[in-house]
Amino acid sequence: MDTTFISEYLHEFLFVYLPYIAGAVFLVGLLYRLAARGESVQALSSQFLSNDKLLKWGSNLFHYGIIFVFVGHIFGLLAPEWMYDWLITNEQKRLLAIVMGGASGIITLVGILMLMIRRFTVKPVKENSHTADFLLVVLVVIQVATGLLGTCETITQDLDYYMNLDRWAQGTFLFLPDSWKYLTATAFIHKLHILLGFLIVLIFPFTKLMHMIALPIRYVVDYFLGKK
Ligand code: HEM
Repeated sequence: MDTTFISEYLHEFLFVYLPYIAGAVFLVGLLYRLAARGESVQALSSQFLSNDKLLKWGSNLFHYGIIFVFVGHIFGLLAPEWMYDWLITNEQKRLLAIVMGGASGIITLVGILMLMIRRFTVKPVKENSHTADFLLVVLVVIQVATGLLGTCETITQDLDYYMNLDRWAQGTFLFLPDSWKYLTATAFIHKLHILLGFLIVLIFPFTKLMHMIALPIRYVVDYFLGKK
């Protein structure tokens, strides 16, 4: 049996087709939830169950951290070279990703770990949680942890290894079918992180993560309709 073919086909599926499937489900699910079931979108606050320090610190650290991580992903992975090469070199960009990405990743990790501990140990919160709440918080912890372990891997590798992550992301974004080839030599931890990332994208519209998009949109719409 030709194992190279299987491995190549698997790579192509996981790192080219899967992102498109996840993106399509995300877009359709998002529009459906916004249009048809807008009122069902919520992140039920557990503050009234227990307004404790774990919530205050965990929530702040996680939310501020994740904003920086998100901006880092957009700039770090998707910005083409001509956008930044007049300002910084690729080596400096890599350093920036390690230092800024690492710092914001650690803040995010501390925050989400506090929220997970609270979810599993604070009695009123635990008793009012659904299985989906437990699974989601564990998934996000694993996602942030694999991201940070990926940064550790980047530190030990050369510039080309880091640039291949960019080349893959930009190629996939531009629908270049061969972009998966940039990931063939990528470490398992990065691949796991990318796959779990797309799993999160795929389930996003059906989880309470939807509040990240729906609530800001609702505020803006309500503002213009004069409801607030
Ligand atoms: C489609 C989804 C995603 C892709 C393709 C992706 C890709 C990547 C890549 C390639 C890195 C490594 C950068 C480096 O080594 O310098 C990274 C780092 C990281 N990712 Fe993701 N990621 C995704 C989703 C997420 C999500 C949903 C989270 C958080 C919930 C997350 C959290 C992190 C963290 C904390 C780091 C390390 C710090 C940083 O560079 O920002 N990622 N990600």
